Amino acid sequence: MTSAAGAPSMVEGEFVLTPEDFRHIAHTLHSYAGIALGEGKAALVYSRLAKRLRVLGLRSFREYCQLIDGVEGVDERQLMTAALTTNVTRFYREPHHFDHLRDQVMPRLAARARAGGRVRLWSAACSNGQEPYSMALTVLQTLPEAADLDVRILATDIDPNMVAQGHDGTYSEEALEPAPVTLWRKYFDRADRGQWTAGAQLKRL
Ligand SMILES: C[S@@+](CC[C@H](N)C(=O)[O-])C[C@H]1O[C@@H](n2cnc3c(N)ncnc32)[C@H](O)[C@@H]1O
Repeated sequence: MTSAAGAPSMVEGEFVLTPEDFRHIAHTLHSYAGIALGEGKAALVYSRLAKRLRVLGLRSFREYCQLIDGVEGVDERQLMTAALTTNVTRFYREPHHFDHLRDQVMPRLAARARAGGRVRLWSAACSNGQEPYSMALTVLQTLPEAADLDVRILATDIDPNMVAQGHDGTYSEEALEPAPVTLWRKYFDRADRGQWTAGAQLKRL
């Protein structure tokens, strides 16, 4: 397939994605989220965004580029970013990070908090909250009174839907499996249909 101007599509399919469209989308994503997309990602861009074109009733990626450009494209830039990023996460993903936090970092931070000092931790791309809750469980493991001290965990993500899920803090038992069972059973409350919700101490952090 080719565009109206004769440029070939980078990916076979119902919509034409020209190299110019791809660069436009990559540039917008980089400006909006700081994420760099190499040309090898054309198939990913096509497959993730073709759904958006169908929902919006657009006929080409050219039209999509026009939409994300303008002031009225603000919501679509957000949706485009969510579509092009992966939210893969797990409790205690990269377990050695949490071993390090527990054994190397927390002894010093616990001493500071117990002496009345301030402790702040940040999960900077928190997805649906499994990472910051893993941090919170690790903090409570070494400092059970953390919620009553000046200890707080900031969790942020570019995707507001992910932040909302983290705020809710409800996960299946299967999702919680990688976490130490004695810890999550202590700090999560049983909810409906085999789900568990982060309890008060976790949420206060
Ligand atoms: C692969 S997940 C990793 C989640 C978690 N940190 C973990 O390791 O389990 C990547 C997350 O980064 C978020 N993200 C991507 N670019 C971002 C940015 N510029 N600022 C904040 N979050 C971003 C995505 O929305 C996604 O939820």
